Amino acid sequence: MVKIGWKIEIPVSLKHIASVLSYPPKYYERRIQKIGFVGKDTKVLDAACGAGVWAIAASYLNQEVMGIDSTERYLAVAKDINTKFKRKNLKLSLGKLEKLPYSNEYFDYIICYDAWMYTNRLESLKEMDRVLKSSGKIYLGSIAGLGWYLAMLVQGFKKGDRNLILMALKSIKNRVYMTENESRKIVEKQGFKILAIGSDGQIGQKNIEVEPQFKNKFLCFWNVFEILAEKRK
Ligand SMILES: C[S@@+](CC[C@H](N)C(=O)[O-])C[C@H]1O[C@@H](n2cnc3c(N)ncnc32)[C@H](O)[C@@H]1O
Repeated sequence: MVKIGWKIEIPVSLKHIASVLSYPPKYYERRIQKIGFVGKDTKVLDAACGAGVWAIAASYLNQEVMGIDSTERYLAVAKDINTKFKRKNLKLSLGKLEKLPYSNEYFDYIICYDAWMYTNRLESLKEMDRVLKSSGKIYLGSIAGLGWYLAMLVQGFKKGDRNLILMALKSIKNRVYMTENESRKIVEKQGFKILAIGSDGQIGQKNIEVEPQFKNKFLCFWNVFEILAEKRK
């Protein structure tokens, strides 16, 4: 399967990556411009970068970008894409958010999209805080809410898909989802100042419009939401 704009072929089995790559590179650039993570001498971390789409896009808008992810086969896709894009200011590494291999206060901006809830939330946030400069900003994007798994459950019943039903129930039982309130509490307790909370692609400059990747709510519960926060001095 060739993903237009990303210059690579990926196996059909990597469904999640296929959906991420269905948005072209310019889409991610625009999303980054909307949250203002742009600068001539700025350093960005794409925390849990997966296929590296945010990292590649950020490398056109900043001086230096690091991408890190704990899954080798996702990181391999990111590296494959980067051999085509040849971004010299981008470095991709295997690693965990709970133990980041970067020095204190190194980054101006951190993007952590569709990933924070899968990590040890407190430990990964502490680490992201450690490597962020004072007054640096963090974007926690696409945090899965309860609505995501309720929608999955309903889909499972509609399609008669036992696996989907079990996956939804397991995720709800294991508390993979987060509520807005608990996210706010963890982020503020770590010492960040929350600048905005909203639905996917909503936070940031009003004059830059972007298409959200996910619907905001299901049955009054967040499907996904996002947080923009600033490290206090
Ligand atoms: C849904 S994908 C999102 C990837 C990417 N941010 C994107 O938007 O396409 C979640 C990613 O989080 C990574 N991940 C999960 N737990 C992690 C951890 N503790 N440390 C680093 N990466 C982690 C997974 O390997 C996966 O690539």
